[in-house]
Amino acid sequence: MTANLTRKAYDARLRTLSEGSVNVSFNAFTDIAWDDPEFAVDTSDPRWVLTSADALGAHPWYREQPLDVQIRIGIWRWAVIAKVGMQFENLLMRGALDYLAQLGNRNEEFRYLTHEITEETHHTQMFQELVNRTGVDTAGGKRWFRQLSRVLPLAGSLYPEAFFTGILAGEEPIDHLQKAALRSGEPVHPLPQRIMQIHIAEEARHISFAHEFLRLRVPRFGKARRGALSVLFPVIMRVLCDVIMIPDRKSAAEVGIPAWVVKEVFWKSEAGRKMLHELFSDVRMLAEDIGLMNKVSRPVWKALRIDGRPARFRGEPVPHTD
Ligand SMILES: [Fe+2]
Ligand SMILES: [Fe+2]
Repeated sequence: MTANLTRKAYDARLRTLSEGSVNVSFNAFTDIAWDDPEFAVDTSDPRWVLTSADALGAHPWYREQPLDVQIRIGIWRWAVIAKVGMQFENLLMRGALDYLAQLGNRNEEFRYLTHEITEETHHTQMFQELVNRTGVDTAGGKRWFRQLSRVLPLAGSLYPEAFFTGILAGEEPIDHLQKAALRSGEPVHPLPQRIMQIHIAEEARHISFAHEFLRLRVPRFGKARRGALSVLFPVIMRVLCDVIMIPDRKSAAEVGIPAWVVKEVFWKSEAGRKMLHELFSDVRMLAEDIGLMNKVSRPVWKALRIDGRPARFRGEPVPHTD
């Protein structure tokens, strides 16, 4: 376990992140050329075909479909993920505002988190705009998630470590998927590509903050509180990962994806299993570092199939095995 993060070092880190937000930030409408013909959503554009970085795009059933079907599913997949991403960020903002409302004066978290909320406002705008432009009328996350998300922000102040674990559980899989798509070297439509570039750049700060937030607090918890979080942590990761990554069966059926394919991709197929393990390598490193890996929690990670080697550093690219 690494040395405990001091409050002073934490505050300095937050100031750096806040300054980063002032120096590099994006606006959903001035930094994306929505009306550039190059960015138009054209249903005959093969750049909408999913890359093999997405387990759905890698599945043989998908690969065997005619080009127009691959494009249609590709556009739909981007729209659904953007919508769920938007819903997550909306939830994050509400919970973060709830957390901020009870902070004392001169707390560095106030400035940093309000910067983060400002950035997420732009992210929700760009994600919703992408959904609108695709013409895909998706509801986003599953119904239970959408309903629960109305009350979940209360955890922001009542149980902040679980709330920020949840934030990380939303941010990490999306970040991983975006980076993998851009690193795949396969063509990606310029519109989602631009959105991903902006998102990856700003999300790096958000993920850093969630890591620091937990690094400051968790090692100082008593045995009972840390023990409870150690078990809850992988459960939150897996449940929220599923909310983001697995499309609703009914919605998938509407674009012609058979239920067995959804089931196999998430997470029975080899690419699916591999993806599930890889999504959380950064988080495993964090869990090791802050004392959340123990005799009881390790089997939970394993049972949820998100165990494996922790990353050596954040954002470590996944080695190619083929
Ligand atoms: Fe975001
Ligand atoms: Fe974020």
